[in-house]
Amino acid sequence: LPNYPAPTDDNEGYASFNGPGQLAASEYPAYGDGLSYIEPCLKLTFADGTRTAELEFVTSTVQDDSLTLTLRDAHYPVRLALHYHLHAHDDLLERWVTIYNEGDTAVTIERIFSAQWHVPTGHDYHLRHLVGRWYDEWQLVEEPLTAGTKTLESRRLTTSHHHNPWFTLHRPDQPAAVWFGTLAWSGNWKLTAEVSETKQTRLSLGLNDWDFAWQLGAGETFTTPFALAGYTAEGFAGARRCLHQHIRRHLPHPEQLRPVLYNSWEATMFAVDEPSQKQLAERAAELGVELFVMDDGWFHGRVFDNAGLGDWWPDETKFPHGLQPLIQHVNQLGMQFGLWLEPEMVNPDSELYRAHPDWVIHFPTRPRTPARNQLILNLARPDVQTYLIEKLDALLSQHNIAFIKWDMNRNVSEPGWPNAPADPREIWVRYVQGLYRVWDTLRERHPQVLWQSCSGGGGRADLGILHRADQIWVSDNTNPARRLAMQYGFSQCFPAGTMEAWVTKDEFQTLMGQGDPVHYPLQFRFHVSMMGVLGLGMNLHHLSDAEKAEAQKLIATYKEIRPLVQQGEQFWLVQTETDTAVLYLDESHTEGVLFAFRTFLPEPSAPLRLRLAGLTDTAVYKLEGIGQKTGAEWQATDLALPLGNFESRLLRLTQQPDPLKS
Ligand code: GLA
Repeated sequence: LPNYPAPTDDNEGYASFNGPGQLAASEYPAYGDGLSYIEPCLKLTFADGTRTAELEFVTSTVQDDSLTLTLRDAHYPVRLALHYHLHAHDDLLERWVTIYNEGDTAVTIERIFSAQWHVPTGHDYHLRHLVGRWYDEWQLVEEPLTAGTKTLESRRLTTSHHHNPWFTLHRPDQPAAVWFGTLAWSGNWKLTAEVSETKQTRLSLGLNDWDFAWQLGAGETFTTPFALAGYTAEGFAGARRCLHQHIRRHLPHPEQLRPVLYNSWEATMFAVDEPSQKQLAERAAELGVELFVMDDGWFHGRVFDNAGLGDWWPDETKFPHGLQPLIQHVNQLGMQFGLWLEPEMVNPDSELYRAHPDWVIHFPTRPRTPARNQLILNLARPDVQTYLIEKLDALLSQHNIAFIKWDMNRNVSEPGWPNAPADPREIWVRYVQGLYRVWDTLRERHPQVLWQSCSGGGGRADLGILHRADQIWVSDNTNPARRLAMQYGFSQCFPAGTMEAWVTKDEFQTLMGQGDPVHYPLQFRFHVSMMGVLGLGMNLHHLSDAEKAEAQKLIATYKEIRPLVQQGEQFWLVQTETDTAVLYLDESHTEGVLFAFRTFLPEPSAPLRLRLAGLTDTAVYKLEGIGQKTGAEWQATDLALPLGNFESRLLRLTQQPDPLKS
């Protein structure tokens, strides 16, 4: 402890107010470690009322890249396995915990985090994390950690738009040294960053213990989700690289390039039907779109947002012959077909709710607060899971569906689970387990389907969902300038290949009450969306011939650069309020594409200044329309790009053949 005397026999525990547990950097502290008041990872209550745990080390085993530390309680037959798995290729360590009740009475788990990490003692650290709200997700913030505990969490049943379990820690005087991590969980989570009185900084991450309890019966085990963390000496770019690489390789379809999609939502909202969708599909195919996605409005009784959720079969009026004629038409146009679903939800005005009003999350004595006129099905219930698996499996089996947008448009209220077979506070975890079960079963039965995770935009983006979904709908806000900031925040954790981004019409912003007088050129809007998985969301009938021709060209360019964007390495070169520049390079750093944007500068004559990064020093690179230099030269000199307000550039970078080798 550089700033404090080490504990000795005389001062150990600082008189009678602290014990060693308060001062030592304990790997997985339990509540019950003597005079210790730090954030524990584990809180148990035993059947006899004892509310502390005393963990003792038993053994450790190493197998290949995995380490398991076994601990047990000093008195009760409870064992813990702390699991570590090294992802050497990505320079990341995965941690999770299993608890075993080897006794014959139940134990109540009141908190069980996945991990706690300690950074070197005696320094001041800054925490970076992501905050937001619906329509304005993914804002990156940095703040100093001071004495006490900073908590970030979700209590909403989803990961949330508001906070994300991604974090970094660094010393402001050493920004290259970065600790970072995240949690693979799509429900309530909690992060605590604590600076103790001896200036120890520790960060814990795991399931949220708020309103949570789990009865661990005799002979039962419980396993936490995993946390993933790393350290890099290469700053925030290094942290991003490790996470991007790792996430990309663990997606359900890691190798597959993502198709350019069209989504009907912003064009037609709920007013979908067979003729109008066919016409939109024709326009989409002309532009070079590869996947046509019909959004909300297609299922039984769905005219507006007040009816239909839960009844997952085609609306008889809008689709009198079912979905087949539309899907066949889309396929004949050379495109794949995708569909919007919101499986976890039900409108009170639906066949499902009339048949099973007890299937929603609720307390019998409390009103069921609707949001967007809908209630949440209790996915902790096996009968609800079975219903969804059967209905959605039938839909996928009977139709040629290549893509599902899985939406989730509200957060929880009255989190009751009447007649729960377990402690009703288990709902927070059992709901997510149920969600994963439904999703995994459908994936297993329909492995070709690509899935998008949406929750009113970016409300459910995390490593847990990305083991199921291939891409994320980052935000309902498609204003390109707002998107640049959100894409920057999103990219701190998630790779561009998961970042679905649509080009929309400016009018949509006004429609959503976010009026913006600025008209962004079509190219600007495309370039912003081309930084991720390109999609189109505007009403295609409203495009002029000139706009169509431009869109066709931009889509064709996207298809050429898509491997770099979706599977390459991403370097954020500039990110200010007005200017953005991002470079994508392939794995061997021989080819790249540079995007540059200016939103608004009161004095727009100043050029955007950037320096390229990630290049091989000795190799010669040509930057389209600018010139040719060695990697070292590009990286040591400022490149001044003249950019007016609302202008963007997309420039290809290519390594030139080495004349000595030819
Ligand atoms: C959410 C999604 C939108 C759209 C609507 C449909 O708001 O984020 O993209 O799918 O639901 O109701």
